[in-house]
Amino acid sequence: MSVEPSSPSPEIENLLAESRTFPPDPTFAAQANAKADLYEEAERDFEAFWAKRARERLDWSKPFETTLEWELPFAKWFVGGELNVSYNCVDRHIERGLGDKVAYHWIGEPGDTRTLTFRDLLREVSKAANALKELGVEKGDRVAIYMPMIPELPIAMLACARIGAPHTVVFGGFSAESLSGRINDCGAKVLLTADGGYRRGKEVGLKHHADEALASTPTVEAAIVVNRTGHEVHMVDGRDHWWHDIVERQSDDCPPVPVESEHMLYLLYTSGTTAKPKGILHTTAGYLLGTSFTHEAIFDVKPDDVYWCAADIGWVTGHSYIVYGPLANATTGILYEGAPDTPAWDRWWQIIEDYRVSILYCAPTAIRAFMKQGEAWPRKHDLSSLRVLGSVGEPINPEAWLWYREHIGGGRAPIVDTWWQTETGQILITPLPGVTTTKPGSATFPFPGIDADVVDGDGNSVPRGGGGYLVLKRPWPAMLRGIHGDPERYFETYWKRFPGMYFAGDGAKRDEDGYFWLLGRVDDVMNVAGHRISTTEVESALVDHRSVAEAAVVGKKDDISGQAIFAFVILRADQEPSDALAVQLREHVAYVIGPIARPKFLMFVPDLPKTRSGKIMRRLLRDIAEGRVLGDTTTLADTTVVDTIRENSGAAEE
Ligand code: WTA
Repeated sequence: MSVEPSSPSPEIENLLAESRTFPPDPTFAAQANAKADLYEEAERDFEAFWAKRARERLDWSKPFETTLEWELPFAKWFVGGELNVSYNCVDRHIERGLGDKVAYHWIGEPGDTRTLTFRDLLREVSKAANALKELGVEKGDRVAIYMPMIPELPIAMLACARIGAPHTVVFGGFSAESLSGRINDCGAKVLLTADGGYRRGKEVGLKHHADEALASTPTVEAAIVVNRTGHEVHMVDGRDHWWHDIVERQSDDCPPVPVESEHMLYLLYTSGTTAKPKGILHTTAGYLLGTSFTHEAIFDVKPDDVYWCAADIGWVTGHSYIVYGPLANATTGILYEGAPDTPAWDRWWQIIEDYRVSILYCAPTAIRAFMKQGEAWPRKHDLSSLRVLGSVGEPINPEAWLWYREHIGGGRAPIVDTWWQTETGQILITPLPGVTTTKPGSATFPFPGIDADVVDGDGNSVPRGGGGYLVLKRPWPAMLRGIHGDPERYFETYWKRFPGMYFAGDGAKRDEDGYFWLLGRVDDVMNVAGHRISTTEVESALVDHRSVAEAAVVGKKDDISGQAIFAFVILRADQEPSDALAVQLREHVAYVIGPIARPKFLMFVPDLPKTRSGKIMRRLLRDIAEGRVLGDTTTLADTTVVDTIRENSGAAEE
């Protein structure tokens, strides 16, 4: 409630105080996979902690000799070992009698379904791998994948892993240009794609984008095309093959190829804000260990759980927590192709009821969208099977957290707010659901073995109660190994700002109890009359008001205060915008966190510009607030949104 800086001119102010706490339910705690002693074990010797789990959890063709070789900023984990990821994700479960267990329940948007057991998965992965071999793909060759959310997508990834061919998955919503840029950066030999997919009741074409991309990708020799929509597409003779021809006719026997621990498993490109996307490099053993262990510990996954991570596999969340982590744990997962509002806003709740989903992992952007539509939608369904809820991708506002807990989790299921990045590969800051007392909006504590800190501009640890920059001070198994083809940029981007530490680019604070609170990207921090104010805290104060579903704030140039706070607000569906409400909301922020954070401008909007993975693009909102020409919009999911906001921008008033 105070606006006094907690130390002289802190890097980022600590303004928002949240006092509600939720201790773990004793019954849940008693049966939880992860217990409090993990923290102590990991602190005693973090290398031994990971080494023990690498031996227990992974199946090796050749055991490793050295746990960690660390030559900052380059890490090598489990050196000397050899293993195969697809063997660890599929074959070994069948050998242990789980062949008939469901690996994926797939649900197409139009309502068609498919069920794949681990035995089915082995057959399909082996055939797809043999098809790649027929096309000349060998260990080390790169393969690009550009598909909708259909079973062939994880099958394609595992087929690559089976023969040691690194993949790069390009999200199906990206343009031809993005696709060709990524293919050329990694020099892919083959492209796996589909004719199209379904989204919001419409067929979305993929093959024509792929054709356009392949016109300028000299390294691609062949393409395999899944027939998803049946829509007529152009097939290039000698280059393009239908999946149902070339894959179906293969033998279902394809021995997994053992690869070294540090063999490249995949590249995943992050668009970032600058021109050239970065190919984030992940390798084999450390990545598989980091994702599978965190998955089991954080989501408390048990053999009979039905687990649903509702991200797209095209993002890292899908790579780590739809494909590799869960499959290594022999988990039954849901794969849903389409949008949450198709045919209506209860599609997810219907799926949870139908499949008795017990663990749900999704993004705050989805939760706020559901919140906007109101609780009548989830109330129509039996959600009593849910026992753990997860959140990822952005800071979750305390009010959205409470809504999620109450209306989706029945006030019963613990929430794990998980902080991590494409670069980190695995979750790094998170509660353990049977151990941690949670606070709405806080990602709580570093996972066992992870050394995270909040530092000031000089790299000194900020005392409790203060804000600053989030850094990691010790390597972890699933960390990125570099940026493809650009070691210099890898060092400059992540390791240069604070010597000896990985800088994540995020602001964070720690409260008096040591809880971590993520404050958004440091590039978005606002400077109001000398106070460095995080967007997250002001947004959460707005969402705290019962009329508000979602908010985004940015700094607008101001003669007096340097920057003034400009708020864009989405109301809940049953609320009407009015000048009186705008005044009320500004006062509400002043009341919750102090007058310094009161937005000078406030505008009601129907929607916000977001990236395709659902993050708010504040950079574009700054352009709108300043009345500037829009910057680069290539990563924007829906371009009509900014036009609508602009048309209304006269409505923003002081
Ligand atoms: C943000 C997604 C607050 C953060 C796995 C990070 C979060 C970026 C959280 C990485 C969270 C992710 N709380 N912020 N729980 N999770 N972020 O690479 O800014 O798509 O740096 O990876 O998302 O996004 P990416």
